[in-house]
Amino acid sequence: MIYSRIVGTGSYLPKRVVTNDELAQTVDTSDEWIVSRTGIRARHMSNAEETSSYMGYQASLRALEAAKLSAQDLNMIIVATTTPDKGLPNTACLLQERLGITDIPAFDITVACAGFVYALSVADQYIRTGMVKTILVVGVDVLTAVTNWQDRNTCVLFGDGAGVVILQAADKPGIVSTHLHADGRQKDSLYIPSLLPGQRCEDELPYIHMEGKEVFKFAVKALGQVVEEILAANGLNQDAIDWLIPHQANLRIITATAEKLKLPMDKVVVTVDKHANTSAASVPLALDEAVRDGRIKRGQTLLLEAIGGGFVWGAALIIY
Ligand code: ACO
Repeated sequence: MIYSRIVGTGSYLPKRVVTNDELAQTVDTSDEWIVSRTGIRARHMSNAEETSSYMGYQASLRALEAAKLSAQDLNMIIVATTTPDKGLPNTACLLQERLGITDIPAFDITVACAGFVYALSVADQYIRTGMVKTILVVGVDVLTAVTNWQDRNTCVLFGDGAGVVILQAADKPGIVSTHLHADGRQKDSLYIPSLLPGQRCEDELPYIHMEGKEVFKFAVKALGQVVEEILAANGLNQDAIDWLIPHQANLRIITATAEKLKLPMDKVVVTVDKHANTSAASVPLALDEAVRDGRIKRGQTLLLEAIGGGFVWGAALIIY
């Protein structure tokens, strides 16, 4: 059997940090409201240079260094992003060019906040079938560029960043299984009307629109179900999980999933307080942080989960 194993992780956060107090100077909100409803205290915000391909590149360099590989060792690039630098070329091609390599497949997938889990699943299939040996998997988003800074319902929630893993073929897991879901009937709960100039937005601003309560309820239910599904599929109970690495949207959603798993919060990697919701970057950013600070160790069992606009959601079980 061929499995895919994480051989390196990396991440990048924009230099500028925006605190809740700073936001409260421009919209009618407060640090107390934001912290109590979401757990968010600050977020990083990109400047014009810190595009998705730039942040993905910086995170990739760190992952390559951690894996002791060079860019020439990569056989494929998959970038999960909802905020590409350009309409075309795709962000993976721009990242390939920044890395100074050519002639390997490079493509984006657009799966909102679940993008990294989806990308991991796609990469895993390529490796398991023996088609590809080493894949750069990137989750990156610049959600602050599609945020309405006058809308307090949404602008307090999002931040920017990139997270990367390098997957490589191995004879032991690695990725044990991935489970993906989507429900397009929920398309009106969370959406961006258009990223394309000239495309009609039906009089809506081209920013993130969100029915917060609907998203909250659906996220708690769907994530609770998918973590149960992944444990059942692998004949495991929650004791097998060393670390839950959840999508970092809201501390209350994270806590609800941990409760479902009966996991104490000291087994949950939480970065939402510092990063806010970085969409496709949120899970790999949290993973990289906990790998680099020594919490996550080789041989431990990780449960990753995420949900995003669509709705789209999924989970991955990984032996690190
Ligand atoms: N500051 C102060 N007041 C605010 C703010 C703010 N930033 N935002 C909303 N309010 C007000 C509302 O206007 C409302 O006022 P009203 O009662 O006078 O109308 C009041 O606070 C209560 O709003 P609710 O919507 O009831 O607050 P709720 O407890 O539902 O919390 C929140 C809102 C935090 C958005 C919550 O619904 C949530 O987290 N939903 C999930 C959203 C999410 O995670 N989105 C990320 C993208 S999707 C994903 O990644 C899964």
